[in-house]
Amino acid sequence: MKILVTGGAGFIGSHVVDAYITAGHEVAVLDNMSTGREENVNSSARVHRADVRDLAQVQAAIAAFRPELVNHHAAQSEVPRSVADPGYDAQVNVVGGLNVLRAAVDNSVRKVIFSSTGGALYGEPDVVPADEDHPIRPLSPYGTGKFAFEQYLATFQRTFGVTFTTLRYANIYGARQDFAAEEGRVVAIFASRMIEGKPVTIDGDGNQSRDMLHVGDVATANLAALERGDGGTYHVSSGTSRGSARRARATCTGSRSTTRAPPSTSDGARRSSSRRACA
Ligand SMILES: NC(=O)c1ccc[n+]([C@@H]2O[C@H](COP(=O)([O-])OP(=O)(O)OC[C@H]3O[C@@H](n4cnc5c(N)ncnc54)[C@H](O)[C@@H]3O)[C@@H](O)[C@H]2O)c1
Repeated sequence: MKILVTGGAGFIGSHVVDAYITAGHEVAVLDNMSTGREENVNSSARVHRADVRDLAQVQAAIAAFRPELVNHHAAQSEVPRSVADPGYDAQVNVVGGLNVLRAAVDNSVRKVIFSSTGGALYGEPDVVPADEDHPIRPLSPYGTGKFAFEQYLATFQRTFGVTFTTLRYANIYGARQDFAAEEGRVVAIFASRMIEGKPVTIDGDGNQSRDMLHVGDVATANLAALERGDGGTYHVSSGTSRGSARRARATCTGSRSTTRAPPSTSDGARRSSSRRACA
């Protein structure tokens, strides 16, 4: 099958590209390399350097490759950045996504697979693990934008006949993850400090909890979605939550861990992150 992976030079998208190529598919990548890296991209995939905010660039890439399926991973993927700059978040994640969808319809793409979020949709969840029917009440513009695009997918299926599968990811970790400071990247941050023999620091009391999943499992879910799940929305998660103190102890082999008061951030930045998230 011919598959275009947007964001295929990024952390998760590049693993999805690898899995598709290993399974024998023909893959192209659309990425503007803003957070992705050329060296992440499998050498068997052709690369279209394009920005999803630019409809003409997206149209040209999709028209040139003529994929049967588009796997949409390109995104502004930082919750704190969406709080600091909600307009940019919406331009990339909502308008950019719409450009991909419109070009998909114009070029007779059968299906779009979308990487949404579990952790940023439910606010402070009523129950953990939350299921896919949990009430949606995002705390961040990032969560709102992801949910808006989920709704557009359903509309485009009804109106234009392009089907979709939405995969709502937990906090994903694994090789190629950037360890710039964001809470969901706690495994990458802890591991990189331990490799350097440095202590790890836990913000707050260490009782914040997250559902963490290895990127290999995410690639497997994206493989399954090629043939299954049309019109469906699914969590891609472990269903168990881990506290950061427990996670540090589990990962630690000889490194020290310390706790500190949460860093001072604006109210909006602090409230955009739930204390526990498990989907
Ligand atoms: N990492 C997680 O734990 C997690 C959790 C839930 C959902 N997701 C979603 O999974 C997807 C991949 O996330 P990631 O962690 O691999 O992030 P990432 O930043 O590594 O990957 C995003 C990719 O999109 C590209 N990109 C960004 N803006 C673009 C634009 N305007 N035009 C074209 N390409 C653009 C980047 O260059 C990068 O290659 C995102 O949609 C993200 O929201 C990630």
